[in-house]
Amino acid sequence: MRKIRLPGWSTGPVYFSHRLKSTSDCLREMAGQGAAHGTVVWAKEQTRGRGRRGREWFSPPGGLYFSVLFKTGPLLEPSFALIAGGAVIGGVKKRVKLNLKIKWPNDIMRNGNKVGGILCEKQGELLIVGVGLNLEIPANLKNSFSPGSLPELKSHPPGEIMGLILNKLEEDLEVFQENGFLPFRNEQRRLSFLLGRWVTVDNLQGQVIDYGEKGQLIIRCADGTEKHCWQGTVMVLEEE
Ligand code: BTN
Repeated sequence: MRKIRLPGWSTGPVYFSHRLKSTSDCLREMAGQGAAHGTVVWAKEQTRGRGRRGREWFSPPGGLYFSVLFKTGPLLEPSFALIAGGAVIGGVKKRVKLNLKIKWPNDIMRNGNKVGGILCEKQGELLIVGVGLNLEIPANLKNSFSPGSLPELKSHPPGEIMGLILNKLEEDLEVFQENGFLPFRNEQRRLSFLLGRWVTVDNLQGQVIDYGEKGQLIIRCADGTEKHCWQGTVMVLEEE
């Protein structure tokens, strides 16, 4: 890994590598050895990229994969992945106008396809936010499944996009630590891919009607009862 300069990001050092197992794992090891608040690890390719709930995050060359370390102290609420998703979309939109949405709790969506994901991991006073964005889909994958991509971002220097995302992340984290999810709720409603849709969340089935004040998903079941979901995997029951 080599240390590089990232335009507009001075909170912590930035390390780049062509290939790593996982930027979040690497950063966690560095945090164990005293890495500073704001340290960033960026890789062109990951050989063992991780997603939420132990899933694999396929990370071929050509995507944007990075993780940032924040030494935050306790977080008021658990919903920071949603806010981080909003920060990623906000950062990207400063360069390219795209209609991106968030599929609770951590997927970035474009036209109904997943184009990115956020992995927020909290350990004591350490928060590691990992961001993965597909900028292109490798040709050999196109037949097997159809994730979305953001090819428009390829004409911008990746460091510039990362700098914009990181700054928004840092700014939003400060607000979140002071005030929790509530100041972000309206923006999250606007960005929501799920609002109004019929879904299953693990064993529950219903229509997504809102976010609660701590970022939980509220669904109304067919019998009219409302359920608050704090975690889980969401499947959409209807097509775009
Ligand atoms: C998900 O969709 O479940 C989250 C995917 C997060 C992927 C990013 S890529 C950079 C960082 N390093 C990892 O190993 N995972 C995150």
